[in-house]
Amino acid sequence: MRILKLFWLILVLQRVGYSSTSPHELETVEEAYLNWVKQMGSYRHSLFQRPMNKFHPCKTIKVNKNPRFGAFSSVQKAINSLPVVNNCRVIISLGPGIYREKVEIPNTMAYITLEGSGLDTTVIEWDDTADRLGQSGRPLGTFGSATFAVNSPYFIAKNVTFKNKAPSPPSGALGKQAVALRVSADRAAFISCKFIGSQDTLYDHIGRHYFENCYIEGSVDFIFGNGLSLYRGCHLHATGNSYGALTAQKRGNFLQETGFSFVKCKVTGSGALYLGRAWGTFSRVVFAFTYMDKIVTPKGWYDWGDKNRDMTVFYGQYKCMGPGAGFEGRVSWSRELTPQEARPFISLGFINGYEWLPKFGRKSTLQVNETRQLFKEKERQQRIRKEQVKLLIETL
Ligand SMILES: *[C@@H]1O[C@H](CO)[C@@H](O)[C@H](O)[C@H]1NC(C)=O
Ligand SMILES: *[C@@H]1O[C@H](CO)[C@@H](O)[C@H](O)[C@H]1NC(C)=O
Repeated sequence: MRILKLFWLILVLQRVGYSSTSPHELETVEEAYLNWVKQMGSYRHSLFQRPMNKFHPCKTIKVNKNPRFGAFSSVQKAINSLPVVNNCRVIISLGPGIYREKVEIPNTMAYITLEGSGLDTTVIEWDDTADRLGQSGRPLGTFGSATFAVNSPYFIAKNVTFKNKAPSPPSGALGKQAVALRVSADRAAFISCKFIGSQDTLYDHIGRHYFENCYIEGSVDFIFGNGLSLYRGCHLHATGNSYGALTAQKRGNFLQETGFSFVKCKVTGSGALYLGRAWGTFSRVVFAFTYMDKIVTPKGWYDWGDKNRDMTVFYGQYKCMGPGAGFEGRVSWSRELTPQEARPFISLGFINGYEWLPKFGRKSTLQVNETRQLFKEKERQQRIRKEQVKLLIETL
């Protein structure tokens, strides 16, 4: 009995962050966390001093397949025409058509807006896979396979389709993952965009991101990474014919402020779909007010074959509907959230959106309240954990 309790104590302590994992594991986790802090903070503290977004454009560049109507006929060429360190809002307006190119926005070019002429009429596509060899002669890897890569903060895209055309790999094939868009920078917004691919479509890598009214299609882990992201009113469409997973969120430790939140979304498609699998030990994903078709497996979530993760992940649903949303068959380590638990996940405050999203611009009183709410929620969770530990120690 005593031993069992001790075991529980260790597990709870792990959740609180006093880890009993090996020093090596701890080091890796710590390193990942410090990297994250560096990434999240670097822009604010070095190159770009002002924390708020900039919306007033200083320049508009027209890109068109027909050279008569645009200064450029390639998206990358338009980006290359900007100063290496870009510090004002630039609108790159894309005419209709299919742009067959791989595009990368360097990390010094902040404040770029990409505006398509309609989410079905402006398409940027390429077909790299992770195992394809890059210029260096080494495989590109998942990171390098992206058709479109965003490395700079304050990026906005509207009305554009991002596509990776690599064929859907047979189940279990290695190195065939193919990213349509990777976003590795803070404060990016995607409004009315489409992301089309199979395995690993949308690499929500790092930073705070907002997706509104978007369509995201894929088979396995088609939204993945360690971003802190809010998806509102998005259509998530699975194309697999066997098991697939909608998300693979990579939160690596208890201190990381990352996770995916889906609010008022819609899940449809084919195959048998997990809402998420635990790529990171502390993976965090919430679905709220979301319609789920019957393709969602009753279990709902998968721990990546590591039972320890059952104790550390945070997977929740709140007021979802549809034949795939039922809570009866769900794994015991996922949760149906209370209104209080759901609150931090369903508002723009989840990504500090009131500070930097286009619609809201400046600080509002709402933001102040959101911040306070989040803080209170954190305090509450810490209190509960401390109480749990105290109780366990007392009963030992
Ligand atoms: C997308 O394009 C359509 C058609 O041009 C337009 O009506 C709509 O307002 C655009 N949406 C956004 C978010 O810019
Ligand atoms: C924000 O908090 C203030 C002070 O507590 C309150 O007066 C105000 O009504 C709140 N605003 C909203 C939108 O809840």
